Amino acid sequence: MKIRESGMPEREMWENFFDPRKILATLGIDKQTTDVAEFGCGYGTFTMPAAKIIKGKIYALDIEPDMVRLTNEAAKKQGLANVQTVLRDFMTEGSGLPDESVDYAMLFNILHLEKPTVLLSEARRILRAGGKIGIIHWNYDPATPRGPSMDIRPKPEQCIQWAKECGFAHSQRHDLKPYHYGIVLRKEN
Ligand SMILES: C[S@@+](CC[C@H](N)C(=O)[O-])C[C@H]1O[C@@H](n2cnc3c(N)ncnc32)[C@H](O)[C@@H]1O
Repeated sequence: MKIRESGMPEREMWENFFDPRKILATLGIDKQTTDVAEFGCGYGTFTMPAAKIIKGKIYALDIEPDMVRLTNEAAKKQGLANVQTVLRDFMTEGSGLPDESVDYAMLFNILHLEKPTVLLSEARRILRAGGKIGIIHWNYDPATPRGPSMDIRPKPEQCIQWAKECGFAHSQRHDLKPYHYGIVLRKEN
């Protein structure tokens, strides 16, 4: 089932809210990163820049056929053979990826979902020892130009708490100006 309030504005507007390469660098995705899972790839805003940086594969999951198609088309157009799109409901079916198969899981603009710990536990399952999750979300501020309604918008402290409950530690917070915050946590063994 599609998570609540996960609709997107037009691509051009959405992509004006971020500097993806800067955000990925801040959140620790670099050329040492091997394989990545992205939960809810949307337009592929972060998928393409990540695919260009990492040395392995990025699994870009989304429930919307249009989002999967657009991400696929962008990867083909840019000659990125390491993008593998997956049409899938990761809330009811999980990611379908094997245990301990990726180094990094991207949870970008997604943690306002109904059951955050279900997703965080799935991310933990597929991460290798020492693997990391990167969380991005809209600042907890009603003045942001988009973002989930305030009653379901998570605060950074809340995301950290959920992640700790699911076996993550060593949180690092980042201000991703102008509208987002970022958090990186490591899988605890
Ligand atoms: C707000 S968008 C964020 C997209 C991308 N992470 C970004 O930040 O640019 C959330 C995405 O998650 C997808 N999504 C929502 N519920 C899902 C589910 N249960 N399984 C897989 N994808 C889902 C939506 O289709 C949408 O593309």
